Amino acid sequence: MKGTNNAFLWGGVPVLDLVDKFGAPIYVYDCAKIAQQYDRFVAAFDVPSLHVNFACKALTNISILRFLRSLGAGIDAVSIGEIEHALRAGYETSQIVFTPSSVSLKELDQAAALGVRITLDNMEAIRHWGRKHPGYPVALRINPHIMAGGNRKISVGHIDSKFGISIHHLEEVIQVSKDAGVRICGLHMHTGSDILDVQVFLQATEILFAAAEQFELLDYIDFGSGFKVAYKEGDIETDIELFGREVSARFRTFADRHNPALQLMFEPGKFLVSEAGLFLAKANVVKKSPTTTFVGLNTGFNHLIRPMFYDAYHEIINASNPSGDKGIYSVVGYICETDTFAWNRRIAEVHPGDVLAFKNAGAYAYMMASNYNSRLLPAEVLIHDQHPHLIRKRQEMKDLFRHQTDPPLPF
Ligand code: LLP
Repeated sequence: MKGTNNAFLWGGVPVLDLVDKFGAPIYVYDCAKIAQQYDRFVAAFDVPSLHVNFACKALTNISILRFLRSLGAGIDAVSIGEIEHALRAGYETSQIVFTPSSVSLKELDQAAALGVRITLDNMEAIRHWGRKHPGYPVALRINPHIMAGGNRKISVGHIDSKFGISIHHLEEVIQVSKDAGVRICGLHMHTGSDILDVQVFLQATEILFAAAEQFELLDYIDFGSGFKVAYKEGDIETDIELFGREVSARFRTFADRHNPALQLMFEPGKFLVSEAGLFLAKANVVKKSPTTTFVGLNTGFNHLIRPMFYDAYHEIINASNPSGDKGIYSVVGYICETDTFAWNRRIAEVHPGDVLAFKNAGAYAYMMASNYNSRLLPAEVLIHDQHPHLIRKRQEMKDLFRHQTDPPLPF
């Protein structure tokens, strides 16, 4: 064990030991941090019936889903594949909410056959529902037309966004649902990810409460997610306690008048798992250019696309030399196109072979990874009570060929 005094630990385990044991690159998740965030989220709200459905698109590993289930979470799913993951992890169908976007009517029928809760996001789906699934209540996703989110790519509640049914079409959607004989049991919205300002959330919730007034008997209101977490020391995050206080008071007033058994739902992804994850990779080369010193890693945007895709900031620590003198480095990957994780970042002196650790790798890291450049997907490890468990094996070369058919072509 390399556990020296200044060893960089994750979940109480020296990360260099994890790399020795499981190799690199690798994603490592800490159960304790997930539990801490889950408990904090639940404690922020004071309503009779709160449902926290983990947006499993952020991290779909079955062991993670099982752990969140043990804490009391439900699941927010966007595909049949995600529903299947939740079922395998032991969730009841009543704990799974299917909130897809622009899926086929066939996929909606498949979800109905599985018996989960379903959210519809267009008129055609509602008409189809009445014909095909009479007596199966559904929720509606409403687009409140609010611009919110860390950047435009992850802002989804604005007027140009494809998501949900426009709040301007409320009367029409109520009429269409009535004509189709569909009971609307819930209302849903989700305005974006990495939203910082509590006031923006509250403004959006007001729009949904006003819409909810116009429905007869709702079982639940789902305010989605988008809560911002910290990406670096001192970073501002959503004040979940303030939001919880404000929205709980408003919700209780509404529920007293509308339906005392009304359930309050959320579907956080990042908030629950982002900070629990660490991504570890090794330095292949350190090389100087006229403008910067590059550290080239044995990974790339094929394993962590957020910096290239969203200009996201991920803190990077040299786990092999955590308290060394700092140098200035640009951290890049091995992909055959611009593949920059960080530009001119202060990091403790790096040598080839050092292990660099990326923070906030719990959400949308493994899940957005690919085989680009025919690179293999890394393993995943979950730390529980200071014990690391392998929860996904590293891919092998044969996996790259698994679905290629190699038919007898005339060449
Ligand atoms: N509910 C719905 C309907 C969603 O579309 C999302 C995220 C969530 C909940 C969870 O949002 P969260 O708590 O994670 O912010 N790949 C991007 C984030 C895309 C989020 C897509 N929808 C990223 O890495 O920042």
